[in-house]
Amino acid sequence: MTNQDSFSSLWGIPSVQFSATAATLALLVLVMITQLALRIYRLYMHPLKSFKGLTEACISEDWLYKVTKDGTAEEQFEALHQKFNTKALRIGPNELHITDIELYKVIYNQSKPFLKHAPFYDGFNTPHTVFAELDPHLHKERRRMLNPLFSKVGVYKLEPLIHEKIYTLSSKINRLCGSKNIDIYNAVRLLTTDIITEFAFAKSANLIEEKTDEMDSWFLDAFDVGSQSVVDLQYNTILQKLVAVLPVWISELFNPRLASILNLQKYAGECMRHWQMSSGSSSHPVIFDSLKSISDEAKVSEAMDILIAGADTTASTLATGFYHILSDQRLKERLVRALDVAMPEPGKLVSLQSLEKVEYLTACVKESIRVGMAVPGRLPRVVPNGDPFIVEGQVVPPGTIVGMSAYTMHNSVEAWGSDARKFNPDRWIGPESKDQEKWMCTFSKGARMCLGQNVAPAEITLVFAYLFRNFELSLPEGHMTPKGLDRFTLQYEMPGLPVVFKARQ
Ligand code: HEM
Repeated sequence: MTNQDSFSSLWGIPSVQFSATAATLALLVLVMITQLALRIYRLYMHPLKSFKGLTEACISEDWLYKVTKDGTAEEQFEALHQKFNTKALRIGPNELHITDIELYKVIYNQSKPFLKHAPFYDGFNTPHTVFAELDPHLHKERRRMLNPLFSKVGVYKLEPLIHEKIYTLSSKINRLCGSKNIDIYNAVRLLTTDIITEFAFAKSANLIEEKTDEMDSWFLDAFDVGSQSVVDLQYNTILQKLVAVLPVWISELFNPRLASILNLQKYAGECMRHWQMSSGSSSHPVIFDSLKSISDEAKVSEAMDILIAGADTTASTLATGFYHILSDQRLKERLVRALDVAMPEPGKLVSLQSLEKVEYLTACVKESIRVGMAVPGRLPRVVPNGDPFIVEGQVVPPGTIVGMSAYTMHNSVEAWGSDARKFNPDRWIGPESKDQEKWMCTFSKGARMCLGQNVAPAEITLVFAYLFRNFELSLPEGHMTPKGLDRFTLQYEMPGLPVVFKARQ
Protein backbone atom coordinates (compact mmCIF):
# COMPACT_ATOMS: atom_id res chain seq x y z
CA MET A 1 0.00 0.00 0.00
CA THR A 2 1.39 3.45 -0.95
CA ASN A 3 1.39 6.43 1.41
CA GLN A 4 -1.43 8.03 -0.56
CA ASP A 5 -3.58 4.87 -0.44
CA SER A 6 -3.14 4.61 3.30
CA PHE A 7 -3.93 8.34 3.71
CA SER A 8 -7.09 8.23 1.62
CA SER A 9 -8.37 5.00 3.14
CA LEU A 10 -7.75 6.46 6.58
CA TRP A 11 -10.27 9.21 5.75
CA GLY A 12 -12.61 6.85 3.92
CA ILE A 13 -11.98 8.46 0.46
CA PRO A 14 -11.52 6.03 -2.45
CA SER A 15 -7.98 6.57 -3.85
CA VAL A 16 -9.07 7.30 -7.48
CA GLN A 17 -11.48 10.00 -6.33
CA PHE A 18 -8.82 11.45 -4.05
CA SER A 19 -6.19 11.73 -6.76
CA ALA A 20 -8.72 13.31 -9.19
CA THR A 21 -9.67 15.91 -6.56
CA ALA A 22 -6.04 16.65 -5.78
CA ALA A 23 -5.20 17.02 -9.48
CA THR A 24 -8.12 19.40 -10.02
CA LEU A 25 -7.08 21.45 -7.03
CA ALA A 26 -3.47 21.57 -8.22
CA LEU A 27 -4.63 22.68 -11.68
CA LEU A 28 -6.83 25.39 -10.16
CA VAL A 29 -3.97 26.70 -8.06
CA LEU A 30 -1.68 26.67 -11.12
CA VAL A 31 -4.26 28.61 -13.17
CA MET A 32 -4.67 31.16 -10.38
CA ILE A 33 -0.92 31.62 -10.01
CA THR A 34 -0.50 32.03 -13.79
CA GLN A 35 -3.37 34.56 -13.90
CA LEU A 36 -1.86 36.50 -11.02
CA ALA A 37 1.61 36.46 -12.61
CA LEU A 38 0.15 37.62 -15.94
CA ARG A 39 -1.77 40.39 -14.23
CA ILE A 40 1.36 41.60 -12.40
CA TYR A 41 3.39 41.41 -15.62
CA ARG A 42 0.83 43.32 -17.69
CA LEU A 43 0.35 46.04 -15.09
CA TYR A 44 3.90 46.59 -13.89
CA MET A 45 6.37 45.10 -16.39
CA HIS A 46 4.72 45.19 -19.84
CA PRO A 47 6.27 47.59 -22.42
CA LEU A 48 2.94 49.50 -22.40
CA LYS A 49 2.87 49.88 -18.61
CA SER A 50 3.31 53.66 -18.77
CA PHE A 51 0.25 54.17 -21.06
CA LYS A 52 -2.96 54.94 -19.23
CA GLY A 53 -6.14 52.88 -19.32
CA LEU A 54 -8.60 51.03 -17.11
CA THR A 55 -6.96 48.25 -15.08
CA GLU A 56 -9.42 45.71 -16.48
CA ALA A 57 -8.43 46.74 -20.03
CA CYS A 58 -4.71 46.41 -19.27
CA ILE A 59 -4.90 42.92 -17.76
CA SER A 60 -7.04 41.03 -20.28
CA GLU A 61 -8.92 41.36 -23.57
CA ASP A 62 -12.25 40.63 -21.86
CA TRP A 63 -13.06 44.31 -21.40
CA LEU A 64 -12.35 45.11 -25.06
CA TYR A 65 -14.50 42.18 -26.16
CA LYS A 66 -17.34 43.40 -23.95
CA VAL A 67 -17.35 47.02 -25.18
CA THR A 68 -16.99 45.86 -28.79
CA LYS A 69 -19.92 43.52 -28.38
CA ASP A 70 -22.01 46.33 -26.84
CA GLY A 71 -21.50 48.28 -30.08
CA THR A 72 -20.43 51.39 -28.17
CA ALA A 73 -16.64 51.01 -28.10
CA GLU A 74 -15.75 54.42 -29.57
CA GLU A 75 -18.01 56.36 -27.18
CA GLN A 76 -16.43 54.53 -24.25
CA PHE A 77 -12.89 55.14 -25.51
CA GLU A 78 -13.71 58.82 -25.98
CA ALA A 79 -14.84 59.16 -22.35
CA LEU A 80 -11.69 57.37 -21.15
CA HIS A 81 -9.37 59.54 -23.28
CA GLN A 82 -10.92 62.51 -21.48
CA LYS A 83 -10.79 60.89 -18.06
CA PHE A 84 -7.08 59.98 -18.37
CA ASN A 85 -6.28 63.08 -20.43
CA THR A 86 -4.35 61.07 -23.02
CA LYS A 87 -4.20 60.63 -26.79
CA ALA A 88 -2.89 57.07 -26.45
CA LEU A 89 -5.32 55.04 -24.37
CA ARG A 90 -4.46 51.46 -23.39
CA ILE A 91 -7.55 49.45 -24.38
CA GLY A 92 -6.02 45.97 -24.22
CA PRO A 93 -2.93 44.34 -22.75
CA ASN A 94 -1.03 45.09 -25.98
CA GLU A 95 -3.28 47.63 -27.70
CA LEU A 96 -3.54 51.43 -27.83
CA HIS A 97 -6.34 53.61 -29.16
CA ILE A 98 -4.87 56.79 -30.62
CA THR A 99 -6.59 60.19 -30.99
CA ASP A 100 -3.75 62.38 -32.25
CA ILE A 101 -5.29 63.27 -35.64
CA GLU A 102 -1.89 64.00 -37.22
CA LEU A 103 -0.94 60.34 -36.78
CA TYR A 104 -3.70 58.96 -39.04
CA LYS A 105 -1.59 59.43 -42.16
CA VAL A 106 1.38 57.77 -40.43
CA ILE A 107 -0.48 54.55 -39.56
CA TYR A 108 -2.63 54.32 -42.70
CA ASN A 109 -0.19 55.47 -45.34
CA GLN A 110 0.25 54.63 -49.00
CA SER A 111 3.85 53.48 -49.26
CA LYS A 112 4.53 51.72 -45.96
CA PRO A 113 1.26 51.18 -44.13
CA PHE A 114 1.34 49.51 -40.73
CA LEU A 115 0.17 45.91 -41.23
CA LYS A 116 -3.33 44.78 -40.30
CA HIS A 117 -3.64 42.97 -36.94
CA ALA A 118 -4.25 39.31 -37.81
CA PRO A 119 -6.75 38.07 -35.16
CA PHE A 120 -9.03 41.07 -35.80
CA TYR A 121 -9.17 40.51 -39.56
CA ASP A 122 -9.15 36.68 -39.33
CA GLY A 123 -12.43 37.08 -37.42
CA PHE A 124 -14.12 37.76 -40.77
CA ASN A 125 -13.27 34.19 -41.78
CA THR A 126 -12.38 35.24 -45.35
CA PRO A 127 -8.59 34.70 -45.43
CA HIS A 128 -6.52 36.23 -48.24
CA THR A 129 -9.26 38.42 -49.66
CA VAL A 130 -8.31 41.96 -50.65
CA PHE A 131 -9.85 43.11 -47.35
CA ALA A 132 -8.32 40.52 -45.02
CA GLU A 133 -4.93 39.80 -46.63
CA LEU A 134 -2.05 40.73 -44.33
CA ASP A 135 0.87 40.26 -46.72
CA PRO A 136 1.44 43.57 -48.58
CA HIS A 137 2.62 41.87 -51.80
CA LEU A 138 -0.31 39.47 -52.01
CA HIS A 139 -2.66 42.33 -51.15
CA LYS A 140 -1.22 44.51 -53.91
CA GLU A 141 -1.61 41.69 -56.42
CA ARG A 142 -5.29 41.05 -55.52
CA ARG A 143 -6.08 44.77 -55.48
CA ARG A 144 -4.48 45.15 -58.92
CA MET A 145 -6.89 42.51 -60.26
CA LEU A 146 -9.94 44.29 -58.87
CA ASN A 147 -9.01 47.95 -59.34
CA PRO A 148 -10.48 48.47 -62.85
CA LEU A 149 -13.94 47.36 -61.70
CA PHE A 150 -13.91 49.94 -58.93
CA SER A 151 -12.50 52.88 -60.89
CA LYS A 152 -14.71 55.82 -61.84
CA VAL A 153 -15.14 54.29 -65.31
CA GLY A 154 -15.98 50.92 -63.73
CA VAL A 155 -18.69 52.57 -61.66
CA TYR A 156 -20.24 54.30 -64.69
CA LYS A 157 -20.59 50.81 -66.21
CA LEU A 158 -22.48 49.75 -63.08
CA GLU A 159 -24.80 52.74 -63.30
CA PRO A 160 -27.64 51.16 -65.36
CA LEU A 161 -27.91 48.44 -62.71
CA ILE A 162 -28.20 51.04 -59.93
CA HIS A 163 -30.90 52.90 -61.90
CA GLU A 164 -32.88 49.69 -62.44
CA LYS A 165 -32.83 48.78 -58.73
CA ILE A 166 -33.85 52.31 -57.69
CA TYR A 167 -36.87 52.13 -60.03
CA THR A 168 -37.82 48.75 -58.52
CA LEU A 169 -37.56 50.10 -54.99
CA SER A 170 -39.50 53.20 -55.89
CA SER A 171 -42.39 51.11 -57.29
CA LYS A 172 -42.51 49.15 -54.05
CA ILE A 173 -42.49 52.36 -51.98
CA ASN A 174 -45.30 53.75 -54.16
CA ARG A 175 -47.33 50.62 -53.55
CA LEU A 176 -46.84 50.62 -49.77
CA CYS A 177 -46.60 54.25 -48.74
CA GLY A 178 -50.36 54.95 -48.82
CA SER A 179 -50.96 52.52 -45.96
CA LYS A 180 -47.84 52.85 -43.78
CA ASN A 181 -44.57 54.62 -43.06
CA ILE A 182 -41.57 53.11 -44.77
CA ASP A 183 -38.48 52.11 -42.82
CA ILE A 184 -36.02 53.78 -45.16
CA TYR A 185 -33.05 52.07 -43.48
CA ASN A 186 -34.28 48.57 -44.32
CA ALA A 187 -35.52 49.74 -47.72
CA VAL A 188 -32.06 50.94 -48.76
CA ARG A 189 -30.44 47.84 -47.24
CA LEU A 190 -32.51 45.76 -49.66
CA LEU A 191 -31.47 48.06 -52.49
CA THR A 192 -27.72 48.06 -51.77
CA THR A 193 -27.74 44.28 -51.22
CA ASP A 194 -29.51 43.73 -54.53
CA ILE A 195 -26.91 45.89 -56.28
CA ILE A 196 -23.87 44.36 -54.59
CA THR A 197 -25.03 40.77 -55.05
CA GLU A 198 -25.48 41.41 -58.77
CA PHE A 199 -21.96 42.85 -58.88
CA ALA A 200 -20.18 40.47 -56.49
CA PHE A 201 -22.25 37.24 -56.72
CA ALA A 202 -23.19 37.66 -60.40
CA LYS A 203 -26.81 37.13 -59.39
CA SER A 204 -28.99 39.66 -57.61
CA ALA A 205 -30.56 38.43 -54.40
CA ASN A 206 -33.68 40.34 -55.54
CA LEU A 207 -34.59 41.20 -51.99
CA ILE A 208 -36.74 44.20 -52.93
CA GLU A 209 -39.13 41.80 -54.65
CA GLU A 210 -38.74 38.95 -52.14
CA LYS A 211 -41.46 40.12 -49.77
CA THR A 212 -44.09 42.12 -51.58
CA ASP A 213 -45.65 43.88 -48.58
CA GLU A 214 -42.72 44.62 -46.27
CA MET A 215 -39.15 45.86 -46.30
CA ASP A 216 -37.47 42.83 -44.85
CA SER A 217 -35.51 39.69 -45.72
CA TRP A 218 -33.62 36.78 -44.16
CA PHE A 219 -30.51 38.43 -45.60
CA LEU A 220 -30.83 41.43 -43.29
CA ASP A 221 -31.20 39.17 -40.25
CA ALA A 222 -28.12 37.28 -41.42
CA PHE A 223 -26.15 40.56 -41.60
CA ASP A 224 -27.26 41.55 -38.08
CA VAL A 225 -26.48 38.24 -36.44
CA GLY A 226 -23.44 37.57 -38.63
CA SER A 227 -21.74 40.80 -37.61
CA GLN A 228 -22.00 39.72 -33.97
CA SER A 229 -20.42 36.37 -34.77
CA VAL A 230 -17.46 38.23 -36.32
CA VAL A 231 -16.84 39.87 -32.92
CA ASP A 232 -17.02 36.44 -31.24
CA LEU A 233 -14.36 35.14 -33.63
CA GLN A 234 -12.12 38.22 -33.34
CA TYR A 235 -11.71 37.69 -29.62
CA ASN A 236 -11.55 33.88 -29.62
CA THR A 237 -8.66 32.62 -31.70
CA ILE A 238 -9.40 28.96 -30.81
CA LEU A 239 -12.92 29.30 -32.24
CA GLN A 240 -11.38 31.01 -35.29
CA LYS A 241 -9.11 28.05 -35.94
CA LEU A 242 -11.92 25.53 -35.43
CA VAL A 243 -14.26 27.35 -37.82
CA ALA A 244 -11.51 27.42 -40.45
CA VAL A 245 -11.18 23.61 -40.49
CA LEU A 246 -14.46 22.11 -39.27
CA PRO A 247 -17.56 21.39 -41.37
CA VAL A 248 -20.21 24.10 -41.15
CA TRP A 249 -22.68 22.06 -39.09
CA ILE A 250 -20.11 21.42 -36.35
CA SER A 251 -19.00 25.09 -36.23
CA GLU A 252 -22.62 26.05 -35.73
CA LEU A 253 -22.77 23.85 -32.63
CA PHE A 254 -19.96 25.91 -31.06
CA ASN A 255 -21.62 29.20 -31.88
CA PRO A 256 -25.17 29.19 -33.34
CA ARG A 257 -24.68 32.81 -34.50
CA LEU A 258 -22.15 31.56 -37.03
CA ALA A 259 -24.98 29.84 -38.91
CA SER A 260 -26.06 33.13 -40.50
CA ILE A 261 -22.72 34.04 -41.99
CA LEU A 262 -22.02 30.46 -43.04
CA ASN A 263 -25.41 30.28 -44.78
CA LEU A 264 -24.56 33.45 -46.68
CA GLN A 265 -21.23 31.86 -47.67
CA LYS A 266 -23.11 28.80 -48.94
CA TYR A 267 -25.41 31.05 -50.96
CA ALA A 268 -22.40 32.90 -52.43
CA GLY A 269 -20.94 29.53 -53.49
CA GLU A 270 -24.18 28.58 -55.28
CA CYS A 271 -24.19 31.92 -57.11
CA MET A 272 -20.57 31.48 -58.20
CA ARG A 273 -21.33 28.01 -59.63
CA HIS A 274 -24.38 29.46 -61.39
CA TRP A 275 -22.10 32.13 -62.95
CA GLN A 276 -19.67 29.42 -64.12
CA MET A 277 -22.46 27.38 -65.74
CA SER A 278 -23.88 30.42 -67.49
CA SER A 279 -20.42 30.83 -69.11
CA GLY A 280 -19.80 34.02 -67.16
CA SER A 281 -21.80 36.34 -69.41
CA SER A 282 -23.38 39.40 -67.85
CA SER A 283 -24.55 42.79 -69.07
CA HIS A 284 -22.63 44.61 -66.33
CA PRO A 285 -19.25 44.11 -64.61
CA VAL A 286 -18.99 41.20 -62.17
CA ILE A 287 -16.04 40.68 -59.85
CA PHE A 288 -15.61 37.00 -60.85
CA ASP A 289 -14.61 38.23 -64.34
CA SER A 290 -11.48 39.73 -62.79
CA LEU A 291 -10.75 36.75 -60.58
CA LYS A 292 -10.63 33.93 -63.13
CA SER A 293 -7.08 32.96 -62.11
CA ILE A 294 -7.86 32.24 -58.44
CA SER A 295 -9.53 29.19 -56.85
CA ASP A 296 -13.31 28.87 -56.58
CA GLU A 297 -13.08 29.01 -52.81
CA ALA A 298 -11.10 32.26 -53.01
CA LYS A 299 -13.66 33.72 -55.45
CA VAL A 300 -16.47 33.02 -52.97
CA SER A 301 -14.52 34.58 -50.08
CA GLU A 302 -13.89 37.70 -52.15
CA ALA A 303 -17.58 37.95 -53.09
CA MET A 304 -18.58 37.59 -49.44
CA ASP A 305 -16.22 40.34 -48.31
CA ILE A 306 -17.43 42.73 -50.97
CA LEU A 307 -21.02 42.07 -49.94
CA ILE A 308 -20.23 42.70 -46.27
CA ALA A 309 -18.04 45.72 -47.06
CA GLY A 310 -20.40 47.26 -49.57
CA ALA A 311 -24.05 46.64 -48.73
CA ASP A 312 -24.82 47.70 -45.17
CA THR A 313 -22.14 50.42 -45.17
CA THR A 314 -23.76 52.30 -48.02
CA ALA A 315 -27.23 51.69 -46.58
CA SER A 316 -26.45 53.05 -43.12
CA THR A 317 -24.80 56.11 -44.71
CA LEU A 318 -27.97 56.72 -46.71
CA ALA A 319 -30.12 56.34 -43.58
CA THR A 320 -27.92 58.81 -41.68
CA GLY A 321 -28.16 61.27 -44.56
CA PHE A 322 -31.95 60.94 -44.82
CA TYR A 323 -32.29 61.48 -41.10
CA HIS A 324 -30.27 64.70 -41.05
CA ILE A 325 -31.74 66.15 -44.22
CA LEU A 326 -35.28 65.42 -43.06
CA SER A 327 -34.55 66.91 -39.64
CA ASP A 328 -33.87 70.31 -41.17
CA GLN A 329 -36.69 71.72 -43.31
CA ARG A 330 -34.54 74.49 -44.83
CA LEU A 331 -31.85 72.08 -45.85
CA LYS A 332 -34.36 69.66 -47.37
CA GLU A 333 -36.07 72.39 -49.40
CA ARG A 334 -32.74 73.62 -50.73
CA LEU A 335 -31.86 70.11 -51.88
CA VAL A 336 -35.26 69.54 -53.50
CA ARG A 337 -35.01 72.89 -55.34
CA ALA A 338 -31.60 71.92 -56.73
CA LEU A 339 -32.95 68.55 -57.86
CA ASP A 340 -36.05 70.02 -59.52
CA VAL A 341 -33.71 72.00 -61.77
CA ALA A 342 -31.36 69.09 -62.46
CA MET A 343 -34.13 66.54 -63.10
CA PRO A 344 -36.98 68.36 -64.85
CA GLU A 345 -38.76 65.18 -65.90
CA PRO A 346 -40.47 63.44 -62.97
CA GLY A 347 -39.95 59.69 -62.53
CA LYS A 348 -36.77 59.69 -64.58
CA LEU A 349 -33.22 59.56 -63.30
CA VAL A 350 -30.54 61.52 -65.12
CA SER A 351 -26.94 60.38 -65.45
CA LEU A 352 -24.59 60.18 -62.49
CA GLN A 353 -22.15 62.44 -64.30
CA SER A 354 -24.70 65.24 -64.51
CA LEU A 355 -25.84 64.74 -60.91
CA GLU A 356 -22.25 65.02 -59.73
CA LYS A 357 -22.35 68.61 -61.00
CA VAL A 358 -25.26 69.52 -58.71
CA GLU A 359 -23.29 71.31 -56.02
CA TYR A 360 -25.75 71.04 -53.14
CA LEU A 361 -26.53 67.37 -53.81
CA THR A 362 -22.81 66.55 -53.84
CA ALA A 363 -22.36 68.51 -50.61
CA CYS A 364 -25.21 66.51 -48.97
CA VAL A 365 -23.67 63.23 -50.15
CA LYS A 366 -20.24 64.15 -48.80
CA GLU A 367 -21.62 65.29 -45.48
CA SER A 368 -23.67 62.08 -45.17
CA ILE A 369 -20.48 60.10 -45.76
CA ARG A 370 -18.63 62.20 -43.16
CA VAL A 371 -21.29 62.14 -40.45
CA GLY A 372 -22.54 58.65 -41.33
CA MET A 373 -19.07 57.05 -40.96
CA ALA A 374 -20.37 53.59 -41.71
CA VAL A 375 -17.16 52.02 -40.37
CA PRO A 376 -16.88 54.13 -37.24
CA GLY A 377 -14.38 52.19 -35.17
CA ARG A 378 -10.66 51.65 -34.89
CA LEU A 379 -8.82 49.79 -37.65
CA PRO A 380 -6.14 47.88 -35.71
CA ARG A 381 -2.61 47.79 -37.09
CA VAL A 382 0.75 46.56 -35.77
CA VAL A 383 3.60 49.03 -35.12
CA PRO A 384 6.50 47.99 -37.38
CA ASN A 385 10.20 47.92 -36.61
CA GLY A 386 12.07 50.86 -38.07
CA ASP A 387 11.33 54.54 -37.49
CA PRO A 388 10.05 55.01 -33.94
CA PHE A 389 6.33 55.61 -33.66
CA ILE A 390 5.82 58.36 -31.10
CA VAL A 391 2.62 59.52 -29.40
CA GLU A 392 2.65 62.40 -26.94
CA GLY A 393 6.43 62.11 -26.67
CA GLN A 394 6.34 58.41 -25.81
CA VAL A 395 7.76 55.75 -28.11
CA VAL A 396 5.26 52.98 -28.83
CA PRO A 397 7.17 49.68 -28.94
CA PRO A 398 7.15 47.75 -32.26
CA GLY A 399 4.64 44.89 -32.11
CA THR A 400 2.06 47.03 -30.28
CA ILE A 401 -1.41 47.05 -31.81
CA VAL A 402 -2.55 50.61 -32.54
CA GLY A 403 -5.76 51.89 -34.05
CA MET A 404 -7.47 55.12 -34.99
CA SER A 405 -11.08 55.65 -35.98
CA ALA A 406 -13.33 57.68 -38.25
CA TYR A 407 -15.27 58.50 -35.07
CA THR A 408 -12.24 60.32 -33.62
CA MET A 409 -11.30 61.97 -36.90
CA HIS A 410 -14.77 63.23 -37.80
CA ASN A 411 -15.68 64.51 -34.36
CA SER A 412 -12.42 66.44 -34.09
CA VAL A 413 -12.94 70.15 -33.49
CA GLU A 414 -9.28 70.65 -34.43
CA ALA A 415 -10.04 69.28 -37.93
CA TRP A 416 -13.58 70.54 -38.62
CA GLY A 417 -14.15 73.43 -36.25
CA SER A 418 -16.65 73.81 -33.43
CA ASP A 419 -19.52 72.36 -35.49
CA ALA A 420 -17.66 69.07 -36.13
CA ARG A 421 -20.62 66.99 -34.91
CA LYS A 422 -23.20 68.97 -36.87
CA PHE A 423 -24.58 67.92 -40.27
CA ASN A 424 -23.56 70.90 -42.36
CA PRO A 425 -23.34 70.33 -46.15
CA ASP A 426 -22.13 73.92 -46.63
CA ARG A 427 -18.72 72.92 -45.31
CA TRP A 428 -18.22 71.21 -48.70
CA ILE A 429 -19.02 74.29 -50.75
CA GLY A 430 -16.33 76.74 -51.82
CA PRO A 431 -12.67 76.39 -52.81
CA GLU A 432 -11.33 76.10 -49.26
CA SER A 433 -13.43 72.97 -48.71
CA LYS A 434 -10.82 70.98 -50.66
CA ASP A 435 -8.40 71.33 -47.72
CA GLN A 436 -10.78 69.38 -45.50
CA GLU A 437 -10.48 66.23 -47.61
CA LYS A 438 -7.35 65.34 -45.68
CA TRP A 439 -9.42 64.81 -42.53
CA MET A 440 -12.07 62.71 -44.27
CA CYS A 441 -11.40 59.14 -43.11
CA THR A 442 -14.72 57.38 -43.72
CA PHE A 443 -13.04 55.21 -46.35
CA SER A 444 -9.73 55.20 -44.41
CA LYS A 445 -6.52 56.26 -46.20
CA GLY A 446 -3.47 54.85 -47.94
CA ALA A 447 -2.86 51.44 -49.46
CA ARG A 448 -5.77 49.78 -47.59
CA MET A 449 -8.26 52.53 -48.35
CA CYS A 450 -11.77 51.37 -49.32
CA LEU A 451 -11.97 49.83 -52.76
CA GLY A 452 -15.62 50.84 -53.04
CA GLN A 453 -15.00 54.56 -52.47
CA ASN A 454 -16.44 55.38 -55.92
CA VAL A 455 -19.30 52.86 -55.73
CA ALA A 456 -20.85 54.06 -52.47
CA PRO A 457 -21.05 57.79 -53.38
CA ALA A 458 -22.55 56.83 -56.76
CA GLU A 459 -25.34 54.85 -55.09
CA ILE A 460 -25.96 57.56 -52.47
CA THR A 461 -26.09 60.31 -55.11
CA LEU A 462 -28.59 58.43 -57.29
CA VAL A 463 -30.82 57.39 -54.38
CA PHE A 464 -31.00 60.89 -52.86
CA ALA A 465 -31.62 62.38 -56.28
CA TYR A 466 -34.46 60.05 -57.21
CA LEU A 467 -36.28 59.85 -53.87
CA PHE A 468 -36.07 63.56 -52.96
CA ARG A 469 -37.11 64.53 -56.50
CA ASN A 470 -40.10 62.21 -56.72
CA PHE A 471 -41.46 61.94 -53.18
CA GLU A 472 -42.47 64.39 -50.49
CA LEU A 473 -40.54 62.94 -47.53
CA SER A 474 -40.89 63.73 -43.83
CA LEU A 475 -40.21 62.23 -40.42
CA PRO A 476 -43.35 60.98 -38.64
CA GLU A 477 -44.79 62.80 -35.60
CA GLY A 478 -42.96 61.88 -32.40
CA HIS A 479 -40.09 60.18 -34.22
CA MET A 480 -36.96 59.24 -32.30
CA THR A 481 -33.29 59.57 -33.25
CA PRO A 482 -32.29 56.19 -34.70
CA LYS A 483 -29.80 54.34 -32.51
CA GLY A 484 -26.65 53.20 -34.30
CA LEU A 485 -24.46 50.37 -33.05
CA ASP A 486 -20.84 49.89 -34.13
CA ARG A 487 -20.47 46.28 -35.26
CA PHE A 488 -17.41 47.12 -37.35
CA THR A 489 -19.98 48.44 -39.80
CA LEU A 490 -22.65 50.72 -38.34
CA GLN A 491 -26.07 49.15 -37.87
CA TYR A 492 -29.26 50.87 -36.83
CA GLU A 493 -31.47 49.18 -34.25
CA MET A 494 -35.16 48.53 -34.83
CA PRO A 495 -37.31 50.34 -35.93
CA GLY A 496 -34.63 51.76 -38.25
CA LEU A 497 -35.80 55.07 -39.74
CA PRO A 498 -39.55 55.20 -40.43
CA VAL A 499 -40.33 57.92 -42.99
CA VAL A 500 -43.59 59.30 -44.38
CA PHE A 501 -43.56 59.04 -48.20
CA LYS A 502 -46.03 60.90 -50.43
CA ALA A 503 -45.75 60.96 -54.20
CA ARG A 504 -44.99 64.54 -55.34
CA GLN A 505 -47.47 66.20 -57.63
C1 HEM B 1 -20.19 54.29 -47.29
C2 HEM B 1 -19.82 53.08 -47.61
C3 HEM B 1 -18.48 52.49 -47.26
C4 HEM B 1 -17.65 52.76 -46.21
C5 HEM B 1 -17.85 53.77 -45.10
C6 HEM B 1 -16.49 51.91 -46.35
C7 HEM B 1 -15.40 51.94 -45.50
C8 HEM B 1 -14.27 51.16 -45.65
C9 HEM B 1 -13.12 51.22 -44.78
C10 HEM B 1 -12.97 52.13 -43.57
C11 HEM B 1 -12.24 50.33 -45.23
C12 HEM B 1 -10.88 50.01 -44.60
C13 HEM B 1 -11.09 48.84 -43.65
C14 HEM B 1 -9.86 48.44 -42.87
O1 HEM B 1 -8.79 48.98 -43.07
O2 HEM B 1 -10.01 47.55 -42.06
C15 HEM B 1 -12.81 49.69 -46.37
C16 HEM B 1 -12.18 48.72 -47.12
C17 HEM B 1 -12.78 48.09 -48.17
N1 HEM B 1 -14.01 48.38 -48.73
FE1 HEM B 1 -15.27 49.81 -48.16
N2 HEM B 1 -16.65 51.14 -47.45
C18 HEM B 1 -17.85 51.45 -48.03
C19 HEM B 1 -18.37 50.91 -49.19
C20 HEM B 1 -17.79 49.91 -49.91
C21 HEM B 1 -18.34 49.34 -51.11
C22 HEM B 1 -19.64 49.81 -51.77
C23 HEM B 1 -17.50 48.35 -51.48
C24 HEM B 1 -17.59 47.42 -52.65
C25 HEM B 1 -18.48 47.48 -53.59
C26 HEM B 1 -16.40 48.31 -50.53
C27 HEM B 1 -15.34 47.43 -50.57
C28 HEM B 1 -14.23 47.50 -49.75
C29 HEM B 1 -13.09 46.61 -49.89
C30 HEM B 1 -12.93 45.50 -50.89
C31 HEM B 1 -12.17 46.99 -48.90
C32 HEM B 1 -10.78 46.40 -48.63
C33 HEM B 1 -9.75 47.26 -49.35
C34 HEM B 1 -8.31 46.83 -49.11
O3 HEM B 1 -7.95 46.41 -48.02
O4 HEM B 1 -7.53 46.97 -50.06
N3 HEM B 1 -16.61 49.28 -49.60
N4 HEM B 1 -14.05 50.23 -46.63
